Amino acid sequence: MPYLPSSDRYKTMQYRRCGKSGIKLPSVSLGLWHNFGDVDDFENARKIIHLAFDSGITHFDLANNYGPSPGSAETNFGKILRQDLLGHRDEMIISTKAGYYMWEGPYGEWGSKKYLVSSLDQSLQRMGLEYVDIFYSHRPDPDTPVEETMSALDLIVRQGKALYVGISNYRNDEAEKAISILKELGTPCLIHQPKYSMFERWAEGGLLNILEENGVGCIPFSPLAQGLLTNRYLNGVPADSRAGRPGGFLKPANITEEKLQTIRRLNDAAQKRGQSLAQMALAWLLKDTRITSVLIGASKPEQLSDSLKSLENISFGSEELAEIEQILK
Ligand SMILES: NC(=O)c1ccc[n+]([C@@H]2O[C@H](COP(=O)([O-])OP(=O)(O)OC[C@H]3O[C@@H](n4cnc5c(N)ncnc54)[C@H](OP(=O)(O)O)[C@@H]3O)[C@@H](O)[C@H]2O)c1
Repeated sequence: MPYLPSSDRYKTMQYRRCGKSGIKLPSVSLGLWHNFGDVDDFENARKIIHLAFDSGITHFDLANNYGPSPGSAETNFGKILRQDLLGHRDEMIISTKAGYYMWEGPYGEWGSKKYLVSSLDQSLQRMGLEYVDIFYSHRPDPDTPVEETMSALDLIVRQGKALYVGISNYRNDEAEKAISILKELGTPCLIHQPKYSMFERWAEGGLLNILEENGVGCIPFSPLAQGLLTNRYLNGVPADSRAGRPGGFLKPANITEEKLQTIRRLNDAAQKRGQSLAQMALAWLLKDTRITSVLIGASKPEQLSDSLKSLENISFGSEELAEIEQILK
């Protein structure tokens, strides 16, 4: 069936300015790490992208290695773009990254200029794009001078292959250094992508302040802790869930009875707010104005619809916050 985007797509989404840049991102963005590979159902993936675009999600996040197989999420996304969204490219912020293992030999991972430039060329080819909107250094490289990694990002922008650049998984000192080098090069860092959720709070230990002071946006990844902060595991591990499927990073062993008790108590707190646990977990991040967007995943359109409803209530009373802190202790 041909896809016609909804004419209401910009009616309800809220957009937030990304740091001190000219770009606004939707409060909720969609990531394609899982569920868009060649092991996944293509028509389901397509439906999720359609629903996202129809809901005002303008930002789609990829990386060279997303799949499995590595690269196949970009290939599938490119196919969906060509089939359904080509006339809407200027309404979209598409990001990709390089940093993790992609190909054999000494130039297939980490942070050398050689790797980053070649990897982006491959990503553009897979997606059938002339440029991406944001290109990230996916992780800091302890062995490559950060000056080289940042100068590769600067080069890529000057070549017109990316409009903006970002960093991901950089800790406080690493982030400060990278941001300062990029500023000197004249290609400011647009955004940082850290892992941040109720269950993963290292970003609160200085990173969020560093980003705010430098006018850099923040887009937390895995804001639902890969599904733990949802109703997914309340009654066991479903066979079609991330923890139930083979090969993922979330293992049934991660879902301990202690963790489940916390999840159940959070679920009760969410119900008191009239929200699903996923909605409360996203709202809890979005209550902080330093957060530009939350970068979620979804394996079904219904999950995306549920998560989007978080935007109906992102404010918390002090008692609600105290209760959540107590549960997370
Ligand atoms: N920069 C990095 O190093 C890095 C690393 C990881 C991720 N990321 C980015 O962040 C994106 C999101 O990561 P993530 O997929 O781990 O995010 P997440 O939002 O924490 O987890 C998504 C998973 O939670 C479950 N879920 C989502 N919404 C739900 C709902 N409303 N109700 C019940 N279950 C729900 C689904 O699990 P089931 O599949 O079990 O249904 C879904 O696949 C990635 O796609 C990627 O773009 C970046």
